[in-house]
Amino acid sequence: MSAGRRLLIRGGRVIDPAAGRDAVADVLVIDGAVAAVGQDAAAGSGDCEVLEAAGLWVLPGLIDLHVHLREPGFEYKETVLTGSRAAAAGGFTAVACMPNTDPPNDSAAVTRAILLKAEEAALVRVYPIGCITAGQKGQRMAEFGDLVAAGCRAVSDDGRPVMHAGVMRRALEYSRHFNIPVISHCEDLHLAGDGVAHEGAVATRLGLKPIPAAAEEAMVAREVVLARQTGARVHIAHVSTRGSVSLLTAAKAEGLSVTAEATPHHLTLTDEAIAGFDTATKVNPPLRSAEDREALRRALAEGIIDVVATDHAPHGLADKDLEFDVAANGIVGLETALPLVLRLVAAGSCSLHRAIDALTWRPARILGVPGGRLAPGDPADITLVDPDEAWTVDPEKFFSKGRNSPFRGWRLTGRVRATIVGGRTIFRDGVMVGGQSR
Ligand code: DOR
Repeated sequence: MSAGRRLLIRGGRVIDPAAGRDAVADVLVIDGAVAAVGQDAAAGSGDCEVLEAAGLWVLPGLIDLHVHLREPGFEYKETVLTGSRAAAAGGFTAVACMPNTDPPNDSAAVTRAILLKAEEAALVRVYPIGCITAGQKGQRMAEFGDLVAAGCRAVSDDGRPVMHAGVMRRALEYSRHFNIPVISHCEDLHLAGDGVAHEGAVATRLGLKPIPAAAEEAMVAREVVLARQTGARVHIAHVSTRGSVSLLTAAKAEGLSVTAEATPHHLTLTDEAIAGFDTATKVNPPLRSAEDREALRRALAEGIIDVVATDHAPHGLADKDLEFDVAANGIVGLETALPLVLRLVAAGSCSLHRAIDALTWRPARILGVPGGRLAPGDPADITLVDPDEAWTVDPEKFFSKGRNSPFRGWRLTGRVRATIVGGRTIFRDGVMVGGQSR
């Protein structure tokens, strides 16, 4: 948005948990920042572009702190540009991208390359996440100072755990100097073995090798202990089991700096979804039992699970069109996340405000980035949603390169109508209107 430009978003229902607002109101944007919100926001707006939002929800732009953009190295799966488009289409104005690229993001050079691509894409805000260990090999710490100086907002070896507890302890101690969260992919590889499905009746019936809940829980327990010892900020990625929720509940009651996320797919599906051997349902951690899913839903409602993050993990056909045992793990999530969360709200699992908080303010606070709220002075990162529009998921129409969605054919309610970043509309009514042309 050029200097002095004004945008008035008129008459929508502004739902902003962080600002404690849920009311029909106007939002006035000047020079890319929120200038006023309220019934009288239009006063003094003068000559400005108007976006009519009657009947729509006006939300702080959604923030996803766990996506895979695959660049550099796996551009056939996704790029910063295509992933940014997918984010915009899903109502996300900011994403944090995991470092399991090739080369992995364990150096300032890779971080800068990702940021350059994001700048060229000129769509959503992209926050790189650096590696915890060099090459994600789990042995030697990455240069956190260089990574943070280059623009990383967190570190993680996501896709792999840091199996060496001593290395993790040192990484947590070191992270405190930079006040960054350490995002832990909790998986004890010895317990997980070469499993491909949740250990339970479904895996037994299908003859698939199991991954016990303990593979995750043993590592969550370790991270809680290390968070206590080091005082570092630990964020647990893709929580999938009831036992992990119990551990997090205790850690939070104790006041430790432990936060957690759950994915829309773990909140929505169970291991029954893998029964047809559809590799779009193969993911790590695996889809779990109905009891686990119930525990996640309750934990989200109570804030024990702070954040909904997609773990958007696009893969190519060559990775997925294989036997279940050998197919890649991952589900694309950016373009279905919001309506899947709204489905939980409609079912009474979670309040609307908690759900929006989990997609906006909480991830912003964990990453320490602007946004997630629509108060005067905040960046005008805004998502407009038609809460009543029903649509059918067709992965062939995704902006993402990934087609690996287990929600193919699902009828969902709630559609993103517009995505605005820094006062600039980048996506509107199904069309990418900003950013780099194809
Ligand atoms: O299913 C997954 N896919 N889980 C992970 O932890 C990594 C991700 C990927 O990179 O594909």
